[in-house]
Amino acid sequence: MCGIMGVIGGHDAVPALIDGLQHLSYRGYDAAGVAVFNGEHIQIRKTAGSLDKLKTLLSGQPVRGDVGIGHTRWATHGAPTDCNAHPHTDARERIAVVHNGIIENERALRLQLAAEGVEFRSQTDTEVVAHLVAKYLKETCDLHCALRKAIEAIVGAYALVVMSVDEPDRLYAARKDSPLVIGLSAGTGRGQKAPLQFGETGQSPALNGAGYIASDIPALLPYTREIILLEDGDVARVQRDSVTIWDRSDTIVLRESKTIHWDQEAADKGDHITFMEKEMDEQPDAAARLLEAPLLQAAIPERVVFVACGSAYHAALIGRQYFAQLAGIPSEVEVASEFRYESPLPLNNAMCLAVSQSGETADTLAAMRQAKLRGARAVAIVNVQDSSIAREADAVQWMHAGPEIAVATTKGFTTQVLALLRIALEWGRRREWLTAGAARSWANDLNKLPELMREAIADTERARRFATAHIAPRLVFFIGRGLDTPTAMEGALKLKEISYQHAAAYAAGELKHGPIALIEIDVLVIALCTQRELLPKTISNIREVKARGAYVLALCQRRDEAALKQAADEVWTLPDAPDALMPLLAVLPLQRLAYEVALLRGCSVDKPRNLAKSVTVE
Ligand code: G6P
Repeated sequence: MCGIMGVIGGHDAVPALIDGLQHLSYRGYDAAGVAVFNGEHIQIRKTAGSLDKLKTLLSGQPVRGDVGIGHTRWATHGAPTDCNAHPHTDARERIAVVHNGIIENERALRLQLAAEGVEFRSQTDTEVVAHLVAKYLKETCDLHCALRKAIEAIVGAYALVVMSVDEPDRLYAARKDSPLVIGLSAGTGRGQKAPLQFGETGQSPALNGAGYIASDIPALLPYTREIILLEDGDVARVQRDSVTIWDRSDTIVLRESKTIHWDQEAADKGDHITFMEKEMDEQPDAAARLLEAPLLQAAIPERVVFVACGSAYHAALIGRQYFAQLAGIPSEVEVASEFRYESPLPLNNAMCLAVSQSGETADTLAAMRQAKLRGARAVAIVNVQDSSIAREADAVQWMHAGPEIAVATTKGFTTQVLALLRIALEWGRRREWLTAGAARSWANDLNKLPELMREAIADTERARRFATAHIAPRLVFFIGRGLDTPTAMEGALKLKEISYQHAAAYAAGELKHGPIALIEIDVLVIALCTQRELLPKTISNIREVKARGAYVLALCQRRDEAALKQAADEVWTLPDAPDALMPLLAVLPLQRLAYEVALLRGCSVDKPRNLAKSVTVE
């Protein structure tokens, strides 16, 4: 989703802006642009398409200056055109704005401004902000007041960065429901508890100081590891040697800076050709790390309501079965975008469990807030430290997956599932739902998990051969029962996301209630058969689709290979393990299969079309 980078002081703005945006580009975007103050004017360069296109534009029409803002846009209001790309300016081009999020009352504000004589040049909601700030600047002659008045008029979510010819030594930032971070250059109060308003608090301003603003930390790591995370409602003024922050009530506040310790290399591809491949291969190590990590500290709830989106929703569907089977705790799983608007029945005594790799998914965050209002305790399973969901939850289980860059999640999904399994086992043990013997045997099984995952991940060649031979554009069904059903859903989602092959997932028992009408020669059915108790049932479903001409690939535990060979056309075996561990193993070849299909089709694996890593809009 959209990326923001702002820089003031220290060096030529353009290379830093482009570099910062490049580090955010994994989030997905379809247009890019920069605005740079050259000492007299704000100069804008922007284009639909990639950052490479923007670089070409800039080499033909260079701009220079040490104050600038940049943006990668993922289209919401208006098509991905040059004109809709950010930054947007007011009529006199004295103010430039970049924005992540959605202004919900854009229509009303646009009509009001048009009635006052404003001529709009784009279809974006962001342009409204540029004109609003200009209007209030005329009234107040102070950019801080003008921005404050503009955000009071706006309904919706935003991370905004604003620059103005009238205050050329300052960048302003404001956030609500969309993340923004400020980076402090070496010397600007590094390591101070609250290195704000350095001038005002007697800190000596840095020589050659520089300030940065970005929508996510990776953009800033080449420049600084000293970061301030803005909170909802904050407005910040960033200068070469100082940062001042006001909270939602317009009071100056101290926000502690943090030193970021992660390794930039963890967010690089290394020897892999794509981030997705690297992240798939990292799964056993990520699992091992999570198994060593501290477990959630929270009272055991009477009932759990999961809220999540995409793959995290599938992880939650697996979690629901773990909680029921291993801890005897009932739960419901809700798609976050639906939950937030459902009837507001009380959720007293319930735990809302928000599952989110990024911790920024707008629907999941809103659903969690909604659940809190309805009386639930909020707990989150999150990967990204300091993300909004993590900060607003009452307790957090960290996923320990390390940075996940590819848009389609892999290690994010498996660590979510493993975190849920660990929590279910711990609650089951504490509630004595599991016997002491069962708990011990589970501890033993979990220790073996990373090695089992390594075995299950191994066969790249087989996935490549299958992708070449069997996935021509045709109908692809994924079926399963019990814990295999959400795994099938995740397999189908991966294939759709990165290879653009339509695929549908069904609980195998549901086939005969409709979808079986689509089965004919040439349809591919991928049958997950890892749940041993349900095996005879799934085998019957395989026979039903085979009888109607489908080609069937079955995935099963090694010990069931012979039984499956009699029913399916092709069998992929997975290591033998307790059924509850199988989602963590079965999803691995499904990810690889989707990956190989995407490579064969020449798709952009890490940044699939139309998708974003962190969906910060509704
Ligand atoms: C986006 C990504 C999906 C992801 C979903 C939820 O749609 O493309 O891969 O599963 O968001 O993300 P979260 O960060 O909340 O787990």
